[in-house]
Amino acid sequence: MRIAVIGTGYVGLVTGACLSDFGHEVVAFDKDERKIAQLNSGEIPIYEPGLGDLIARNVAAGRLAFGTDLDVAVAGAEAIFLAVGTPARRGDGRADLQFVFEAVEAIAARLRSPTVVICKSTVPVGTNRRVLARLRQLRPDAAVEVASNPEFLREGAAIDDFKRPDRVVVGAESAQAREVLKAIYRPLSLNETPILFTDLETAEVIKYAANAFLATKISFINEVADLCERVGANVQDVARGIGLDRRIGSKFLHAGPGYGGSCFPKDTVALIETAREAGLRLRIVEAAAETNAERKENLAARVIAALHGSLKDTKVAVLGLTFKPNTDDMREAPSLKLIPKLQEAGASIRVHDPEGMREAARHIHDVEWCDGPYHAAEGADAVVLLTEWDAYRALDLARVKRLMRGKALVDLRNIYKPHEVAAVGLDHFPVGLGGRPPIDPERLREAAE
Ligand SMILES: NC(=O)c1ccc[n+]([C@@H]2O[C@H](COP(=O)([O-])OP(=O)(O)OC[C@H]3O[C@@H](n4cnc5c(N)ncnc54)[C@H](O)[C@@H]3O)[C@@H](O)[C@H]2O)c1
Repeated sequence: MRIAVIGTGYVGLVTGACLSDFGHEVVAFDKDERKIAQLNSGEIPIYEPGLGDLIARNVAAGRLAFGTDLDVAVAGAEAIFLAVGTPARRGDGRADLQFVFEAVEAIAARLRSPTVVICKSTVPVGTNRRVLARLRQLRPDAAVEVASNPEFLREGAAIDDFKRPDRVVVGAESAQAREVLKAIYRPLSLNETPILFTDLETAEVIKYAANAFLATKISFINEVADLCERVGANVQDVARGIGLDRRIGSKFLHAGPGYGGSCFPKDTVALIETAREAGLRLRIVEAAAETNAERKENLAARVIAALHGSLKDTKVAVLGLTFKPNTDDMREAPSLKLIPKLQEAGASIRVHDPEGMREAARHIHDVEWCDGPYHAAEGADAVVLLTEWDAYRALDLARVKRLMRGKALVDLRNIYKPHEVAAVGLDHFPVGLGGRPPIDPERLREAAE
């Protein structure tokens, strides 16, 4: 099938590359000419494992092309995917739909043959119906339908998630739209992937409800971790103990620095706003978002408490800047909250990230960029493990200790076992672990104030 993809960010690039790998003929369009020039010279603008090879293979096979000419991208396409950004609007946190409707206007003028416009961007309830109404208004003569096809991929595992999803959700209310979507995803029938057909509004709610539920799981376990710290329990054992119950499940029960990224923070807030507009409060989602925001604000207090209440004239090494491993995405990363607060409190900062330093340099300033974790540890009073990249999972802790000036290891991902850390003479400050509160709650409270 001839398919156009509008927007070549994390979702658009993965969608275009995977659909072409399924055998479809894909033209991906972006209004950002620099990005398209990069892609056409074989450079991949983002870090996503396996994406470079997948793109190269399909470009070479003639199934995938990139362009800035929308006429070419849309010409003859039976399906047009919208994969543009829907960031939080400044001020009220609602999803900003300007890119979606900008793309809709541009597409409408170019419709020549029957087309299904498929919204992959995460958009609030009612948006797909508005898109359909706008297309019909602009082009009453065109045979155009709309489908909502929210994306559930995880950055860092995006290709696998796209090709082997748990399910595909399709909001489609016409036979034309359903048939086109079935044909697009036919290759998934080999794995018997469930394809769930719903109306437009239901598909939109599924996406937000899924993200809100996962975000709630993270905030829940983070609050339980706080409790474990106060009462001397071990949150990892608690997570295992509850996660083995199949009604709960073990995923998304890792206590840590709070969720970030391009989806959970903005989608929870957008869902809260959607509910408010509908005259409702989603109090559980509100609490999950609030807990998470507070958690990120309070991260610096953990480091301050680990260094006996003051960061004056200290050096802190931060390992991991991206919001999670295997991506260079810095959107809403905990590091963006932590580092400025540490600097404000008087610390000088040394940082390392395996793939995210180029992107991080656009947001983080006045730090020393290091070549690796050991370089970052040199002369540090505290090492903070902030993102659980594989490269930090088997550090030679004795070497880290020798390189440091101090001995605090603030392990915000619980990568290391307390006894391993103690064995090399480092002081371990994990999250919600151990038979004693790892950080004195009093000191944590004082530092937060
Ligand atoms: N990143 C994720 O993990 C993820 C997962 C699921 C869903 N989503 C959703 O998918 C959507 C896209 O997210 P993303 O992370 O890929 O965004 P992104 O910011 O990485 O990419 C968006 C791209 O759209 C382009 N664009 C904007 N307006 C355009 C227009 N009018 N015409 C052509 N191109 C245009 C931008 O130049 C940019 O390259 C969002 O709604 C997001 O919530 C993202």
